[in-house]
Amino acid sequence: MAASPARMTAPAVRARKGSEPPLVMVTAYDAPSARTVDAAGADMILVGDSVAMVVLGYDDTLQVTTDDMAHHVGAVARTNPHALVIGDLPWLSYHVSTEETVRNAARLIRAGAGAVKLEGGRKRLGAVQAILDAEIPVMGHLGLTPQSIHALGGFKVQGKELDAAQALTDDAIALAEAGCFAIVLECVPDAVARMITESVPVPTIGIGAGRHCDGQVLVWHDILGFEAEGHRRPKFVRTYAEFERDATGAIEQFCADVRAGTFPSSAETYHMTDRMTEALGLYGDADAGAVEPELTQ
Ligand code: KIV
Repeated sequence: MAASPARMTAPAVRARKGSEPPLVMVTAYDAPSARTVDAAGADMILVGDSVAMVVLGYDDTLQVTTDDMAHHVGAVARTNPHALVIGDLPWLSYHVSTEETVRNAARLIRAGAGAVKLEGGRKRLGAVQAILDAEIPVMGHLGLTPQSIHALGGFKVQGKELDAAQALTDDAIALAEAGCFAIVLECVPDAVARMITESVPVPTIGIGAGRHCDGQVLVWHDILGFEAEGHRRPKFVRTYAEFERDATGAIEQFCADVRAGTFPSSAETYHMTDRMTEALGLYGDADAGAVEPELTQ
């Protein structure tokens, strides 16, 4: 029997800085999505707070709690993936006090994550250091940080001006120096992502940040085309399937079969033997057939 490859860890991700092929991270939020991401060979599974929008139907990520995140991390981790499971710390879980920050990060680890992610740069160094002190690997997240959506004034590309680009680079250097094992760069111009990638000794994982990052991440539902009608796909999303359309089509077919009386068929039905059917005084089930044992599949 072939030995299964070693499970991915935060130090193993860190060691991939600058190497080929680029790292791959995909979000997942439950057992089926985690199984598909792991079977496809991704290096990391991010249980993102995007669960708020793509699974729970909220308008932004600010609505989910540490309890919610632990629930979804647990579902992903129970599939026992080879990929590193990263639990996203939700808004307000690392903003109030150091003690709360460490306890919330520990909740995600106890739920099965191998690392946590949090948003923000130099402003969040205290939180990063406290979590690292508890021996929990931390992934940073810079650029468009959706938990700051009100402060940023909307979902907008970040770092377009020179001083903003420099500030993002300084943030990335500070996170790497503090000990983050990797940094997500979201919605920044490719030249800025390149400057940051060349300035830090840890992998950068881009989403809407161009091709110069050390890795790429996309949201599971975006890759698979699982989205409400009229949803505007951001330009950085590449969609590889049309699951919303195909799933609706499959369920439409089920509705039609039930309404036409063609579901369930005899093969999809449990049958009694003829003897039992007779004893119950039931007639007319011509296609049931006599099958042993008395109640069969
Ligand atoms: O929550 C999430 O899905 C994320 C990715 C977009 C990086 O943070």
